[in-house]
Amino acid sequence: MRIDIITVLPELLKSPFEASILKRAIEKGLVEVHFHNLRDYVTDNYKQIDDYQFGGGAGMVMMIEPIDKCISKLKAERTYDEIIYMTPDGETLNQGIANTMSLKENVIILCGHYKGVDQRVRDHFITKEISIGDYVLSGGELGAAVFCDAVIRLLPGVLNDETSALTDSFQDNLLAPPVYTRPSDYKGWKVPEILLSGNFPKIEEWREKEAYERTKTRRPDLLDK
Ligand code: ADE
Repeated sequence: MRIDIITVLPELLKSPFEASILKRAIEKGLVEVHFHNLRDYVTDNYKQIDDYQFGGGAGMVMMIEPIDKCISKLKAERTYDEIIYMTPDGETLNQGIANTMSLKENVIILCGHYKGVDQRVRDHFITKEISIGDYVLSGGELGAAVFCDAVIRLLPGVLNDETSALTDSFQDNLLAPPVYTRPSDYKGWKVPEILLSGNFPKIEEWREKEAYERTKTRRPDLLDK
């Protein structure tokens, strides 16, 4: 998979890709992530990327021309399956979207700022709009990092058996069951007996029941899906 991220703040985005699982995925060649600074696509001397909105009102709007130049350059080099715009009024990210996106070959992610981008960018270039939740961030960069993390960890070879994505919360619309490790008794706080029994079918049964109970109390909405 190849991800091209268009941003005015590449420095805000880079560190999540320089540590842990994402770093390893890049080093193993399982994913390529490229950053494109929108200011490199501005032709005027002021390096202006935003302007006042027509009709008046507070807040600047990102101009179409630099975004067009950047996206068009990328599209001339390869075919993209999806051109994503990170925005609070997009479709809310969930595990299903992450699963679908992890099957794509090439995607562009555009990070918005200020009052957002000129609507014509959305009308003519963007194929998918994604929000990471019902709150407003100061830019799309952190949203893009969250999106990339959720997608990249699903790519074949990124996680090993121990960190397998198959047993994650949400993969079957259930939250994950509780987990424990050594010691089995800490200050009298004991690990459930069944987990120490070695009876694997019974352990599996217990985990399924706990996952269901946890989902029923914390996220009953998931059970309706
Ligand atoms: N940009 C600003 N807020 C956002 C959000 N909630 N999700 C994605 N991008 C955003």
